[in-house]
Amino acid sequence: MSIHVNEEQKLFHLQTAKTSYLFKILENGEAGQLYYGPRIPVKRAYENLASREEHDCTNTLTVDQPDFQLELIKQEYAGLGKGDYRYPAYQITYHDGSRTSEFKYAGFKITDGKQRLADLPSSFDDQGDDAQTLDIEFRDSYADVMLTLHYTVFDKEDVIVRSATFTNHGDAIVLNRALSAQLDLPDSNYDMVQFDGSWARERHLSRTPLRSGVQSISSLRTASSHQHNPFFMLARPHTDNNQGGVFGFNFIYSGNFIDSVEVDQFDTTRVLVGINPDEFGWHLADGESFQTPEAVMTYTSAGFNQLSHQLADFYQDHLINPHFARQERPILINNWEATFMDFTEEKLMPIVDEAHKLGIEMFVLDDGWFGHRDDDKSSLGDWFVDEKKFAHGIDGFAQKVHDRGMKFGLWFEPEMISIDSKLYEDHPDWMIATPGRQSTPARNQYVLDMTRTEVVDYLADHISAIIKKTQLDYIKWDMNRNITEMYGAQLPADRQLEFAHRYILGVYQLYSRLTRAFPKVLFESCASGGGRFDLGMMYYAPQAWCSDDTDAVERIKIQDGTSYGYQQSMWGAHVSAVPNDQVGRLTSLATRAAVAYFGDFGYELDITKLPADQLTEIKDQVAFYKQYRRLFQFGRFYRLENPDTVSDNVYGWEVVNDDRTMAIAARFQILNGANPAYIRVYFAGLDPEKQYTVNDSQEKFSGAELMTAGYFVPRIMDRTKPEKDPSDFSSRLFVIKEA
Ligand code: GLA
Repeated sequence: MSIHVNEEQKLFHLQTAKTSYLFKILENGEAGQLYYGPRIPVKRAYENLASREEHDCTNTLTVDQPDFQLELIKQEYAGLGKGDYRYPAYQITYHDGSRTSEFKYAGFKITDGKQRLADLPSSFDDQGDDAQTLDIEFRDSYADVMLTLHYTVFDKEDVIVRSATFTNHGDAIVLNRALSAQLDLPDSNYDMVQFDGSWARERHLSRTPLRSGVQSISSLRTASSHQHNPFFMLARPHTDNNQGGVFGFNFIYSGNFIDSVEVDQFDTTRVLVGINPDEFGWHLADGESFQTPEAVMTYTSAGFNQLSHQLADFYQDHLINPHFARQERPILINNWEATFMDFTEEKLMPIVDEAHKLGIEMFVLDDGWFGHRDDDKSSLGDWFVDEKKFAHGIDGFAQKVHDRGMKFGLWFEPEMISIDSKLYEDHPDWMIATPGRQSTPARNQYVLDMTRTEVVDYLADHISAIIKKTQLDYIKWDMNRNITEMYGAQLPADRQLEFAHRYILGVYQLYSRLTRAFPKVLFESCASGGGRFDLGMMYYAPQAWCSDDTDAVERIKIQDGTSYGYQQSMWGAHVSAVPNDQVGRLTSLATRAAVAYFGDFGYELDITKLPADQLTEIKDQVAFYKQYRRLFQFGRFYRLENPDTVSDNVYGWEVVNDDRTMAIAARFQILNGANPAYIRVYFAGLDPEKQYTVNDSQEKFSGAELMTAGYFVPRIMDRTKPEKDPSDFSSRLFVIKEA
């Protein structure tokens, strides 16, 4: 039993294997947060956790309750207008224009398991034996509105998932703000750890101590964005990869979001996660409800690596398409950086054949196979093959790939439209545009109005036809621009603020139709690389193209940042040509592969142009990855804390299997130094009692020795060799096996 209720005290204690989450119903009928952190025993009451006291200069519930001051009380889901002036979790405008709510506790329900949400991606426990769900109901009698707070406790993973539903039974209301989770913490001694960037530079870690006031990350791009990932953490100041208290928050949503952390006048902290209230407003007529997307919360006292492991387990078992959970992903070759849009079947076949010889398992045909798309100025929306490029049709080409025993994948950008397209000729009104305003292009393209069912139908029909025709194994679903001139031609004037969310619901609708009809097709989401790298997408597409930046050095930082909140099977990582297309850097084939091994591995270069020795090297890489694929994709991922990591010049990663009999670690060094100090790598996650070899060494080492005394690594540049290998951008791999 994970959820303990003391009905007399109206006290709710949610327990996971290692954490406790407590709240109770307050005198005003709303819910007050008591505690979230390491697991504590169940007891009858926790008066001491309420920290109730009387302060001057603030308002009270009634004259007789001087210590009930909302401004000082930790709450579960706060509104505005009753004396708590911190940013609220929700706000409603009622029929008379008033905006003050009074929700009063009306009961609770506990169910085993976790149902999927109807129109949104969500967590789930299909078997009903891993999770317990608590729904708490509150009623605002003045307007007859119900609020239900949902909590699902995933015991083993130490994860709690939260969301809220508003149901109106009275005159029409408008939800101005409806966030998914609020967490009030009793102090503010935390660092906010967030993952920021830009196109080709996604999810770089930044860590700053909390300060008074609101600090937030958000998106108004109707996409989770390259700029700020919805995943963030609050960590005690000394927390590192191996120790320390840390909360993790993520959001199962792909549109506008806000993660806000407010430190108030008493140095308490309020966390809010949900749909960004800017560009949001939702009408609820009598009988209608609004379900928020789900927020994910987790806590550990054992540092960032442990937090990543909890999330990894949760995603595999309770978020991604179960058909792909812990299922090995194929090694692919993608033609984008090899040919861009300049290809024909004749030009591609030698790449397919060479890939086949090297052991690569899937060929992915990227942008440019449809309409008359020779550059990015045309054809988006015309999801039929360009016969100039494929005389035997796309099915003829797919057949040739399949005949070689390889899988076949195709690129689509479903949500987009080019002005130069048949689709635009037929349906110019399907494009998002604001009347009387000039439409702003990005990459020469525009966005389809995904709130319209006929648009979703058109896309579902055309994409399904191609999937069937080609016996498609994989889809790369791209999305290369954000919405401008946001306007829903089919929405009334007073409902325009629903558009951004309705757009995302339309995207989910299409994803859900396709993934339900073709459950075995592997989807990889992409948005100019990692511009929509979020849990909403992961529910449908269990992997995402991590970044358009394929340079090994840049990728170290990107994948390192990504690894805090996501599991390595969730990101695509490819070896591309040098000089690198994005930064012009030269790195060795070995380093490019070593970085890409830690993800869904593949190639993205013209292998028909490589010298024989590099082809042999690739063949070996493919064989090596196949041998250790499960470990690379699903092993426990550790960011290694080495003494020199602080320099930002050295990164260490390690993956360990479940029974700790096998691990692979990598040490990446960006620049070499002259006459450097000697290097020891301290491995992680091994069994201290087991004996291991490292790279088939004669000597055996205990796990304890490898983790605490470390492993000596000879300097990068061997000065005794007449031929000096390039020493910058170096990588070392360590295969660690139980002896
Ligand atoms: C985006 C993707 C790339 C590639 C191109 C094709 O930039 O991120 O991987 O698919 O589009 O146009």
